[in-house]
Amino acid sequence: PPAAPRDRLGRPLRDLRLSVIEACNFRCGYCMPADRVPDDYGLDAASRLSFGQIETLVRAAARLGVTKLRLTGGEPLLRKGLAALVARLARVEGIEDLAMTTNGALLAPHAAALRAAGLRRLTVSLDALDPDVFRALSGHRGRVEDVLAGIAAAEAAGFGPLKINCVVQRGVNEDQVLPLVARFRGTGHVLRFIEYMDVGTCNGWRRDGVVPSSELRARIHARWPLRPLDAQYRGEVAERHGFLDGGGEIGFVSSVTAPFCGDCHRARVSADGRLYTCLFADAGTDLRAAIEAGEAAVAARLAELWRARADRYSEIRGSGRTPRRRVEMFLVGG
Ligand code: GTP
Ligand code: 5AD
Ligand code: SF4
Ligand code: SF4
Repeated sequence: PPAAPRDRLGRPLRDLRLSVIEACNFRCGYCMPADRVPDDYGLDAASRLSFGQIETLVRAAARLGVTKLRLTGGEPLLRKGLAALVARLARVEGIEDLAMTTNGALLAPHAAALRAAGLRRLTVSLDALDPDVFRALSGHRGRVEDVLAGIAAAEAAGFGPLKINCVVQRGVNEDQVLPLVARFRGTGHVLRFIEYMDVGTCNGWRRDGVVPSSELRARIHARWPLRPLDAQYRGEVAERHGFLDGGGEIGFVSSVTAPFCGDCHRARVSADGRLYTCLFADAGTDLRAAIEAGEAAVAARLAELWRARADRYSEIRGSGRTPRRRVEMFLVGG
């Protein structure tokens, strides 16, 4: 097998984030604003990698040293037969960690089957507890009670602690932060606040829409004192903080104010089989020809592309050296 490749900045490939579908049942303004992305947006199903092609890709990635696999979307639960795909991927040798990120709205009916199929970990996005704020943030598509029911179903299905992701936008859902902390403190679930990022080009991102993690941390600390915790593994995206009173932990993902490209071991593949070596890449590379040629060919192609990688967008943001075109978040799943 080809040796584990290092990119031009010496970073190994450890983590694959695989979008199984580009469509979503929500229209979050920071990702897929309704006025920019039509209701019926999506590839025709035939343009998506089949389960067999996905398995070939994942086996090839595992050969190169990938141990972590995260399924993303769009909304991954919109992909038909997802649990069957999970079952196939859970058997791939070398994949030690199999996780999925979902908006949670469709999770309740699927949680048990996903768990039985071998999904190990779940991350659920939740930007607000207030039903009206939640509804508006989802582009008037989602209901917070469905997401909370999804979280409850995941607990019942035996998923251990979940990660709950909240993207915070200035003046939009800042007021949801303390209620979210209050709700999830002491439950074992790990709430993480994500700085609003300039992913893609259709969300109209502005720097003044970002609430720096340091500010949120101070606000939370004033109510429930916190202390920093060590990372659980090298290159962990979220900075961890524990409640001094034993209420568990929370995290902050601070790509804007504290970039973490130095340890970025992540590759992303879109539902139509394009490799993106950065969340902010301007274009992807089509892997389908290699996938058709089989596992060894994909491994060779992936290794070649990884060795050429020099991405560190968050570190050079604002320098004038970043691409004007950027892939949309819903194509690469965050
Ligand atoms: P764990 O394996 O549970 O630690 O997962 P994770 O932190 O990678 O999970 P998750 O997918 O929940 O990532 C949290 C969020 O951080 C994502 O949704 C993105 O918004 C952001 N993020 C993740 N990876 C990157 C990255 O490589 N670059 C940037 N800029 N943001 C990232
Ligand atoms: N900035 C930060 N996070 C984002 N996400 C989607 N778009 C953005 C953005 N512009 C988050 C979602 C979800 C994860 C997949 O990525 O809310 O938690
Ligand atoms: Fe859908 Fe997630 Fe994008 Fe929201 S952030 S529109 S739930 S893919
Ligand atoms: Fe990795 Fe690109 Fe994110 Fe930096 S900006 S951490 S290189 S995905």
